[in-house]
Amino acid sequence: MSEGIITASYVGATILFILALSGLSNQETARRGNLYGMIGMAVALIATISGVTGNLGILIGGLVLGGTIGLILAKRVQMTEMPELVAMLHSLVGLAAVLVGFANFMDPERLSHYTGIELTIHDVETYIGILIGAITLSGSVIAFGKLSGKISGNPMLLPGRHFLNLLLFLGSIGLCVMFVDESAAGGGTMPLLIMTGIALLFGVHMVMAIGGADMPVVVSMLNSYSGWAAAATGFMLNNDLLIVTGALVGSSGAILSYIMCRAMNRKFIAVIAGGFGTTSGGGGGGSVEDQGEVVEVHAPEVAALLADAKEVMIIPGYGMAVAQAQHIVNEITKTLRSKKVNVRFGIHPVAGRMPGHMNVLLAEAKVPYDIVFEMDEINDDFPKIDVSIVIGANDIVNPSAQTDPDSPIAGMPVMECWLGETTIVLKRGMATGYAGVQNPLFFKENTRMLFGDAKKSLDEVFKNL
Ligand code: TAP
Repeated sequence: MSEGIITASYVGATILFILALSGLSNQETARRGNLYGMIGMAVALIATISGVTGNLGILIGGLVLGGTIGLILAKRVQMTEMPELVAMLHSLVGLAAVLVGFANFMDPERLSHYTGIELTIHDVETYIGILIGAITLSGSVIAFGKLSGKISGNPMLLPGRHFLNLLLFLGSIGLCVMFVDESAAGGGTMPLLIMTGIALLFGVHMVMAIGGADMPVVVSMLNSYSGWAAAATGFMLNNDLLIVTGALVGSSGAILSYIMCRAMNRKFIAVIAGGFGTTSGGGGGGSVEDQGEVVEVHAPEVAALLADAKEVMIIPGYGMAVAQAQHIVNEITKTLRSKKVNVRFGIHPVAGRMPGHMNVLLAEAKVPYDIVFEMDEINDDFPKIDVSIVIGANDIVNPSAQTDPDSPIAGMPVMECWLGETTIVLKRGMATGYAGVQNPLFFKENTRMLFGDAKKSLDEVFKNL
């Protein structure tokens, strides 16, 4: 392929990636957005491969191997495991940036190719690429551990952690100066290796210090880092498409982190500094025994309550994803709407385990988009709601976020369903949610608990309707 066609393909792929992002910002256009992204990536891969000379066998072998692993993973992964998969994929972007950085540094032609200021710029690009890549790599592995429950969600707060972070940061700058100096004389391996070790430690420390309740921000932040790592790799390789794509991912991840912080009423710097979301702070609403009695209901009563209601609000949470209850939720919605009940869905920005988790499930079940609302749009309507059904949600409907300043989720806006007439909570037992805190909602006078797997419970409710 000629240089001109490759450049034109890169421009085309860039446009397709931008269209993909804009498509993904809305449920109705998300499918189209995905398609643009897939076509853009295919164009980018074909154009890049056609520009490679030599070692094609290894390249194609790598592509087939990577593609097969990706395909198997994508087919096997459960919807509830998506966040862990995404965290793992971020770590691979970080690993790729580190490996490309070292390969670039070890390139025997580097010193003949670049001299003077050009060499300095190239070295700094390599250094930054490896730095961000290593932080992304180890941070994502820890995020994977926390999301999958293999590592405790409690924040690990080392004494003097801010000082330690500052020390690591200053150390990285010092090592960069050393690396650039030594590299011109053919050295530099040691400072680069030490910095990689420091960056890996920093990634571990940064994510370990963040509490369970703030994990949504970590997921989007690592998404952003993986983009910047890819952009830095693009600079190293002189590949414009990789620079643009990395910057798109980096900036959209940063915007998402900002949105997540706003949704959780957190300051980004405070989240990164760690310490929020602890379960050992004494807050969190106390144990089950402290709270009083819960009132249990059964499916026939729930069906009767729903059939009598005029205004129903459905609040889905992570448990709906676990139970895969979205389809039966849609059936119940259709039945109620046919009986002239006004059914709406209220979606909390951090419901589930990844941004947009609930919207994806509801779209899959074909719930009409026009009855699905963001929390900000409907939170004031609860006093007018007859029945709210909380399906496998916990932290996002926890009133202690408003009433208990010591709670790990203190200050996080929540769905104020207790202000409605009756709230029905579907869950299997009295287990806490992701943030690990007990929920006073379950003990309120106007709350009724329907215990059991959400899908099985809703099947019963549907039969009774
Ligand atoms: P959670 O607070 O995690 O509560 C989910 C509840 O679902 C649990 O209490 C569980 O109780 C119940 N459940 C689980 N399986 C069930 C099943 N098969 N049937 C019925 N109920 C089931 O979820 P949420 O309210 O959606 O809040 C999300 C939490 O995750 C927040 O703390 C948020 O910060 C965090 N988080 C979010 C994200 C993003 S980006 N959305 C990423 C990482 C972390 P039982 O075990 O008693 O059934």
